[in-house]
Amino acid sequence: MDEASATAGERTGDGVIHTRALTKRFRGGQLAVDGLDLTVPAGSVFGFLGPNGSGKTTTIRMLMGLIEPTSGTAHVLGRPMPRATRAVLPYVGALIEGPALYGFLSGRDNLLRLDSADPTADPRTRRARVTAALDRVGLAAAAGKKAKAYSLGMKQRLGLAAALLQPRRLLVLDEPTNGLDPQGMREIRALVRELASDGTTVFLSSHLLDEIEQVCTHAAVMARGRLVTQGAVTELAAGIRGRLVVTTPDPADAARVLKERGVADVVVDEDRVTGEPPEGELADLNAALVAAGVRVRGFGVERATLEDAFMALTGEGFDVAG
Ligand SMILES: Nc1ncnc2c1ncn2[C@@H]1O[C@H](COP(=O)(O)OP(=O)(O)OP(=O)(O)O)[C@@H](O)[C@H]1O
Ligand SMILES: [Mg+2]
Repeated sequence: MDEASATAGERTGDGVIHTRALTKRFRGGQLAVDGLDLTVPAGSVFGFLGPNGSGKTTTIRMLMGLIEPTSGTAHVLGRPMPRATRAVLPYVGALIEGPALYGFLSGRDNLLRLDSADPTADPRTRRARVTAALDRVGLAAAAGKKAKAYSLGMKQRLGLAAALLQPRRLLVLDEPTNGLDPQGMREIRALVRELASDGTTVFLSSHLLDEIEQVCTHAAVMARGRLVTQGAVTELAAGIRGRLVVTTPDPADAARVLKERGVADVVVDEDRVTGEPPEGELADLNAALVAAGVRVRGFGVERATLEDAFMALTGEGFDVAG
């Protein structure tokens, strides 16, 4: 690819991935992606979050030049997709909804085959790169096993290894922890962090809110094909105020005092009394509780989570839209 134009795209602040009004309507009429404006900053770990069916994979397939948008534009590494697919893809490692594997070949032989199909890959370093990639995803011991005998999690790891055969400027991972056990999920998250610390931009989709919170610096939230919000993860959560939480053996009295003090939406749940944090000095509220004889065990404002943000932004739960 033309390096200069790719870096120019990033320098102008366009991001490693940049879409404008990107739209996909499938033949049956399904509007899967609806006017998407996405900007993925260079060096970010960008979480693409949304419930099942919200348009994540369809977006990723358009970004990778696998399907044509109905309208709108997508730029990856500063180049238009799908027009520049051939030029862009060598710089992008992708894992999209289960990689195409030959079941009769071992994991290692699948990677060797994939790498030899890549005209930009150096055949002299092929074996070493395949071994390193298998190692990185924890498949060294299972490398000789036929892919058809791999579990879902092992296939997922092999797909990830395929994305890591060459140094990449961008990794696009569609639900990379899908099918993995908790230990496998932790390993993949650690790997994503490690890759990002080497300067690779990582774009990963997930329907797991806590996963996005754990690994991502930035996130976009999708619901029913539309972008709900995007930005730094800390800012997304900070936009939503947390709940005031008082832990006490005197919940009824605490609730009364809080209401008298103008705290809205007071809810009692056993020894936990929560409400909307008031404006002004929280210490005064704590003092008021104590002065009224309420025994306070815990007092504070709980940090809002991405899940709170999602609920607040969409007004709905994290369920599949009909
Ligand atoms: N090839 C297709 N033809 C028709 N409709 C499709 C096609 N692919 C996806 N859709 C529809 O587009 C919408 C978005 O699907 P998509 O696969 O992009 O969602 P997703 O966010 O990746 O979901 P998941 O979390 O389940 O992977 C869904 O309503 C889906 O049924
Ligand atoms: Mg999907």
